[in-house]
Amino acid sequence: MKNTIIKFAIAAILGLSVIAPIATFATHYTSKQEEVEAKIETKILQSLNADSMYNNIKSLAKTPRVAGTQQEDAAVAFIKKQFDSYGYKAKVQAFTFNDYTAPHTIGLEVERFSVKLDPQALEYSVSGKVTGEVIDAGLGQKKDLEQMDLTGKIALLQRGVISFKEKMLNVAAKGAIGVIFFNNEPGNIMGSLGEPHEGFVPSVLLTQTEGETMISHIKKYPRAVASLKIEGAKSEKNTSHNVIATKKPNVSQKAKETHDIVVISAHHDSVAGAPGANDDASGTAMTLELARVMKAIPTHTEIRFITFGAEELGLLGSTHYVEQLSKGEISRIVANFNLDMVGSKDAGDLILQTVDNKPNLVTELAQEASTDLNGEPTPYNQGENSDHVPFAKAGIPAALFIHNPAEPWYHKPEDSIDKISKEKLQDVSEIVTLAVMNQTRREYYAK
Ligand code: BES
Ligand code: ZN
Repeated sequence: MKNTIIKFAIAAILGLSVIAPIATFATHYTSKQEEVEAKIETKILQSLNADSMYNNIKSLAKTPRVAGTQQEDAAVAFIKKQFDSYGYKAKVQAFTFNDYTAPHTIGLEVERFSVKLDPQALEYSVSGKVTGEVIDAGLGQKKDLEQMDLTGKIALLQRGVISFKEKMLNVAAKGAIGVIFFNNEPGNIMGSLGEPHEGFVPSVLLTQTEGETMISHIKKYPRAVASLKIEGAKSEKNTSHNVIATKKPNVSQKAKETHDIVVISAHHDSVAGAPGANDDASGTAMTLELARVMKAIPTHTEIRFITFGAEELGLLGSTHYVEQLSKGEISRIVANFNLDMVGSKDAGDLILQTVDNKPNLVTELAQEASTDLNGEPTPYNQGENSDHVPFAKAGIPAALFIHNPAEPWYHKPEDSIDKISKEKLQDVSEIVTLAVMNQTRREYYAK
């Protein structure tokens, strides 16, 4: 009886008066009552609104949304407002991160050295201007430096074995006032000192060839003096935010509730200079749309809809989120559906990516849903470039939903609303909704 009332209420909420003559996903249901449940699910799938997702992408992608900027704050406020308009009380979770401004000027001159150098900055290198003799300090391990006094000197250090940060701190402890790192293999790398540190001295990074030429040079001229100049670099603390909307279990019989949690996620930040319509206003808008349609139906399992900040700076929002969960909560999360770049006209077909390249509950649910909907299972492969990674590392079944190959506009100013396909949004959101409904409703109704 109660069930009928709930169904009535749902039908009213969704404005469903007629059951449209389309296939229902009744394969897991046997009784008459269960067939009705399947019809509700069909209705939910029909109520997914590509226009609504498109319009939310359009609102979000008016500007880039770099973590820690006013544009991110505006996106966070917009997302919270949308969640709340669907009946949630979304929480905004703040976290801090190190915001590094790269130097505008990098200079390196070495006495009697005629080869042209192209010194690169390392992330978290400090500004400063130093002059001193260049000394070959090897790999910069503590044991390499025991007999060396580097006071007032510039240490030349080869990449490898220990981190740039460790090398830097080892030579600085021995008195070095500057550091010249060089690569241990051909080609360029983006060097990083990992995090800001008070003990750092100005540093640059050279290629392997440049470094080896420098070693020969100081063998020939042992007292050669170098001047190292870094200007405009700075490290500051900044704040980004995650937005979290929670749907608690709401089946009529409390005993049927599970302790499980399903997390649906996306990232709302973008890279600088790109409006990030597809990366990842698309996943953000889809997370909102799933929250909207799922609000209308009873689920026996808690669902958390989360948009993360600072994904583009190294999965910072999702890492913070997973880190602050209790062990108990982590063990209750049974699945993370992570939606990143799910609506580009110019990308390939949908794929799932897992960190270990193995199937898990999320890929199984998605493949079952895509088979039901389209007759074939969405394929999966390996990938660790988005917010499913911290979940997977915590032992939670997690997968990324993305189109492969990516569009040429990825991380470019052209990643704008005109490249978004409503059809792709519709297809992916149907697969994810059916998969999530199966996990958060089915067991209860099949019992
Ligand atoms: N949406 C991308 C991830 C992506 C792009 C996956 C293309 C597969 C194909 C994400 O926002 C991103 O740019 N990630 C970073 C890595 C992350 C650890 C900062 C990337 O891929 O460079
Ligand atoms: Zn992304």
